[in-house]
Amino acid sequence: MRIGVLASGRGSNLQALIEVWKQGMLGGDIVAVGSDREDALALQRAQDVGILNQAFPLRNYATRDKQEEAILHWLREQGVELLVLAGFMRVLSQEFLQACQIPVINIHPSLLPAFQGLHAQRQAIEYGVKLSGCTVHYVDEGLDSGPIILQEAVVVLPEDTEASLSDRILEVEHRIYPEAVRLVASGQVRRQGRIVEILC
Ligand code: GRF
Repeated sequence: MRIGVLASGRGSNLQALIEVWKQGMLGGDIVAVGSDREDALALQRAQDVGILNQAFPLRNYATRDKQEEAILHWLREQGVELLVLAGFMRVLSQEFLQACQIPVINIHPSLLPAFQGLHAQRQAIEYGVKLSGCTVHYVDEGLDSGPIILQEAVVVLPEDTEASLSDRILEVEHRIYPEAVRLVASGQVRRQGRIVEILC
């Protein structure tokens, strides 16, 4: 399966995917990495291993819709069959999701449906939960609201700061995101409405 990745920032999840891909264990090939930011470290990470990469900065387009159209056109040109969001900081429009007609998945640093949106780790600490974690889910029109593929819990310690909790959750993200991509890419996931079944 041909996998495309969109990322806005440092790309540590992309790097985790690249490592598993290099071992031939991702269930597909990462063929394209796109970003809405020219300075995203994720683009450099792709470049370093010879993956086609491109920035789509908003200022190059008349509207956000045009920017999305350009991204979608480019992903189609690369024959992408699975779109993986890895720290992509824009919410994709309903039009984009309807038009792209391939699975789109995302990772979020909380146990959804708790703490959607930005600063999920800070939200968890401020709420006082004793467990948080991360969630890989299909992307739908809502904010971090699509059907859940994999989740793993991380204990919130009394002394945790946003940074320390983020670091521990990130370690788990780097393990479960490649695993979720492998499951989806190798057809081991059956989705019926909100319920996602992992086939052994
Ligand atoms: C991760 O915490 C991910 O859960 C969230 O954005 C962050 C991206 O980090 N969606 P990185 O760019 O992959 O290092």
